[in-house]
Amino acid sequence: MNGKPATERFDFDAVHDRSHFGSAKWANQWDEFSPRVEGENLISLWTADMDFRAPEPVIACLRSAADHGIYGYTKRDRRHYEIVRSWFERRHNWAVDLETLLPAPAIMPSVAAILRTFTQPGDGVIVQAPVYSPYFQVVRDNGRNLLINRLTLVDGGYHLDLDEFERLAAKDARAFLLCNPHNPAGKAWTRAELESLDAICERYGILVVSDDIHCDIRLNNRRHIVFSSISEGAAAKSFICTAPTKTFNLAGVPSATLSVADRGRREKLFAVMQASFMVNANFFGRLALEEAYSSGDQWLDNLTPYIRDNIDFVCDFAAKSLPGITPMRPDASFLVWLDARELDARVGGVHRFLVEQAGVNLYDGRVYGPGGEGFIRLNVGCPRSVLEKALTRMAIALSSI
Ligand SMILES: Cc1ncc(COP(=O)(O)O)c(C=O)c1O
Repeated sequence: MNGKPATERFDFDAVHDRSHFGSAKWANQWDEFSPRVEGENLISLWTADMDFRAPEPVIACLRSAADHGIYGYTKRDRRHYEIVRSWFERRHNWAVDLETLLPAPAIMPSVAAILRTFTQPGDGVIVQAPVYSPYFQVVRDNGRNLLINRLTLVDGGYHLDLDEFERLAAKDARAFLLCNPHNPAGKAWTRAELESLDAICERYGILVVSDDIHCDIRLNNRRHIVFSSISEGAAAKSFICTAPTKTFNLAGVPSATLSVADRGRREKLFAVMQASFMVNANFFGRLALEEAYSSGDQWLDNLTPYIRDNIDFVCDFAAKSLPGITPMRPDASFLVWLDARELDARVGGVHRFLVEQAGVNLYDGRVYGPGGEGFIRLNVGCPRSVLEKALTRMAIALSSI
């Protein structure tokens, strides 16, 4: 469509009412993975979508497609995959081979399909907690054995526990679900860390399912390292799952792309996805992906400093006015993991306390599994004024205890 306006404006300060159209974040206040939250005038900074309008070229493209009025079947053609490849080469220096790419409806259905195809009921799947909670569900609900490798918290940052990882790998693990970068703390794994994980997976014949959905919003000089790019062995054992949905705020018009370097596994996975009728593209999802990946660079380059400034704002504000709450600075994403363990014990549950006493709904760290207790996750993908209002409400609530 290439409908790029001559002067695209980036107004991340604009406040939009999202209570219409059934926004899970603002209208419903809960999803199937979190406790239902009730309250009047809640400020919602929990689930991981942003309160910003998508890039103007994407809106223009979807608008013209909507106006056309015929929403029939659609296909991803070669150009579609070339757009995906070009994005990853341009943004992450990952020259992915076109023939490795597979179409997918979204990330989590793909993870489920990969686990069902390449592991058996009862096989172990390693997950590093605290982590995005559907990882627990996708393993358990598909009858696999959840093996939790706790991340260790040292000096306010997460580190791998490789000894424990190896112990689990040696047990009955068949697959490892890697979150790269890691949600909830926005941790970008280094090459050395990925190489250590790869070495253990190689030793025990473990497949790696890498979820790279948060890879595009880079907040410091740590680059995104795609697991399959670190070695031939890593490429052969991995499934890389990507999507533009977090980056460009397109979660409601999903579309995703997998990269599977091993030809045999790629063909098998595609056959399974076809048998589940998962490969037909969504009309709007396909268009949104193509337009975002071809015309969204400028928007993302303007969004990133805005998010970075929001994070600075949170850190400064917390240091001055949020006693008992210590933010962890992310390397990537628009999510900030807040350590409130001592406060959590003092108020009998910090998430509920903030909902009831401050009117602010963040994500309860308990949802993220072992190690998440006493933490809360703050989504800073919102206008600064909304963030300031939420933090001010939190400061007032905290001053009264
Ligand atoms: C790490 C991670 N993976 C996957 C998803 C969801 O992806 P999808 O909606 O494409 O299934 C999210 C959404 O928050 C996420 O944070």
